Amino acid sequence: MLLKKNKSWDMKSIGLKPTDITPKHLFDSRRKFIANSGKTMLGLGIGAIAGGLPLMANMKTAHATTPLNAMKSMVHTLGRLGEEKLTEFDAATQYNNFYEFGTGKSDPYENSGDFKTTPWTVSIEGEVANRGVYDFNDLVKPHQLEERVYRFRCVEAWAMVVPWVGVQLSDVIKRLEPTSKARYVAFETLHDPDQMPGQRGFGFKWPYVEGLRMDEAMNPLSLLCTGMYGETLPNQNGAPIRLVTPWKYGFKSIKSIVRISFTEEQPPTTWNMIAPREYGFYSNVNPKVSHPRWSQARERVVGDGLFSSKRPTLMFNGYEEEVASLYADMDLQKNY
Ligand code: MTE
Repeated sequence: MLLKKNKSWDMKSIGLKPTDITPKHLFDSRRKFIANSGKTMLGLGIGAIAGGLPLMANMKTAHATTPLNAMKSMVHTLGRLGEEKLTEFDAATQYNNFYEFGTGKSDPYENSGDFKTTPWTVSIEGEVANRGVYDFNDLVKPHQLEERVYRFRCVEAWAMVVPWVGVQLSDVIKRLEPTSKARYVAFETLHDPDQMPGQRGFGFKWPYVEGLRMDEAMNPLSLLCTGMYGETLPNQNGAPIRLVTPWKYGFKSIKSIVRISFTEEQPPTTWNMIAPREYGFYSNVNPKVSHPRWSQARERVVGDGLFSSKRPTLMFNGYEEEVASLYADMDLQKNY
């Protein structure tokens, strides 16, 4: 089911024009307090603390970015489009999970300002013909940059809608020519405790690692992102290059990638190693499979206020049509 004639991210099929994507400067001009931000969740393995501190008062700007010329002809919003609005730029860039810079939601924004992302190389390794160390620009340059609006769902039960900019992962993979033995793709984040204060403590086995089955990586929804809101990625969102797999919980979308390996065996993944009962390898958004410590049936929309009512979670985060066939033979209760 990889290729459909009428792709659901084709703007025409959902009645969107390129101009319907709000440019970043409009988000900037609409800056306002994010009532539900702050140090709200220690999340994931550690449990939730609803503090709801307002942020932004005296923050250092950690998102120096430059504009990107993405083709805006491919937009994916889906499902309940019309009811959904894009998450404000400030919310998406100041309410983050990036434990390398701290576990609080505003830590990545506050602590990543000096993070050095140029030069940046990505090592391509394993079961693949075109191995080597690539400048990250060379990895993406041959491919069409696209802007795609995706729903984004964190395992902590908050959700956003983000206009990502990136290249389709499958295009990059095809160019790298994996061997017939390559059944998985493994990703690794930079390990640099001098720059990433979170890597100096907090009991993680660094670097952060993630992985996809090859057919998941080849699914057209999988995006290697270099930008968002029309500009290069802010550091706190995973500059200069990150993964986005919108039908999976957000922790699969690994940031600041320095290594991509093609493997025969299923690769280890960070949150699965920390708490295997809570975070599986697949981690597909599924309202019917509860996290052992909270329900996944409903989700809070970031920007709607900490105490706003939650809305129902959608199977595969609304991307069922595109990805359900990948798991047709699997028990999703077991393969969570
Ligand atoms: N990648 C790395 N290297 N380190 C992290 O802590 N957090 C993950 C994911 N990628 C994380 C990461 C989690 S839990 C989420 S929800 C998303 O990044 C958050 O992405 P965002 O901050 O751009 O919204």
